[in-house]
Amino acid sequence: MEEKLFVRRDDIQIGMQLGESVKDIRGRAMIENGVYLDAYQVRYIKEKKLPGIYIYRVRDDKDIKIPEKTKQIIRQHRKPDRAKIQLSVEMKKQLEERMNHIFDHTEDKDFATNSLDIFGELESAIFKNDAVAIDVNLIKISDEYTFKHSVDVAAISMMIGREYGLPKEELHQLGIAGLLHDVGKARIPNEILNKPGKLTDDEFRVIQDHSLYGYEILKEKNSFSPIILDGVLHHHEKMNGMGYPDNLGSSQISLFSRIISVADVFDALVTKRPYKGPITGREAMEMVLAMGSELDNAIIQSFIESVILYPVDTIVELSTGQMAKVVENNKRYPTRPKVVELQTGMVYDLCHDMECNKIIVL
Ligand SMILES: [Fe+2]
Repeated sequence: MEEKLFVRRDDIQIGMQLGESVKDIRGRAMIENGVYLDAYQVRYIKEKKLPGIYIYRVRDDKDIKIPEKTKQIIRQHRKPDRAKIQLSVEMKKQLEERMNHIFDHTEDKDFATNSLDIFGELESAIFKNDAVAIDVNLIKISDEYTFKHSVDVAAISMMIGREYGLPKEELHQLGIAGLLHDVGKARIPNEILNKPGKLTDDEFRVIQDHSLYGYEILKEKNSFSPIILDGVLHHHEKMNGMGYPDNLGSSQISLFSRIISVADVFDALVTKRPYKGPITGREAMEMVLAMGSELDNAIIQSFIESVILYPVDTIVELSTGQMAKVVENNKRYPTRPKVVELQTGMVYDLCHDMECNKIIVL
């Protein structure tokens, strides 16, 4: 087990790996253990006025000290990431809490207005800085699953759609479908939804009904377009015809459903659940890539190009045991950024340097 180190509030830095979850007053984890802190999370912790946090001590048992020569090399090679979704932890929490309300009041007459309001806020946060990518660390911040998942799937779907070339109006519709794709779960008993163990076949069938329930809930409101309804109804269809509820074949699955499926699968993989721990963004991406028979390959490609696994300035550990700083991301190969090794200042372009072909970011 890695050793933990207490760091005082003023010394907290971007790239440190959190050794214990940061919790709110209700004891809910606001930032998960194991996350590499980004600028928003550092600001959040500092604003909360916590005395400090626990981080994992780096492998060589020293604090991260970067030699002056390395710092210069980092500055020379550093290329900022393309515009990412900027959503503060606070705002993400608020959106999730409001989604909670929506799920509890699916029969309310204000349902459509409320959900469109929530989506409007998410949408303006996304377009404020003209975001074209999403940072996986934003996804990993955890809370009650369904509401976090709704916000994430909306955001990831919109970034995929953007990369795929959809116009703004369609992105708008796609985001609403992503936000509400699992609203049918409001009609599924909690004991089944949050069951820690393996589901029985009957329980699984009950859960599968959520696609149809979601469709029904939205259709009754008369406020959602047919492409939104279809995206919600068919987000669990698979390209090989093995999905549900209609066992559609690849040519029958709408673009929205295909996009939401990829976002849904990835978010579920990187998120900790009662029955499984989280896996890393790299592992989740490799799993999505291996699902070419179930998911649409063209959408997987757009997804790869819209997610940032290791934002520039993140400190990462390489499979060689060295620590390095990310200085540039390659849009087409997000698992293989350009990095600068902290002690020697060696530059490894994991995508293009042939001699680095065996090195991976852990
Ligand atoms: Fe679902």
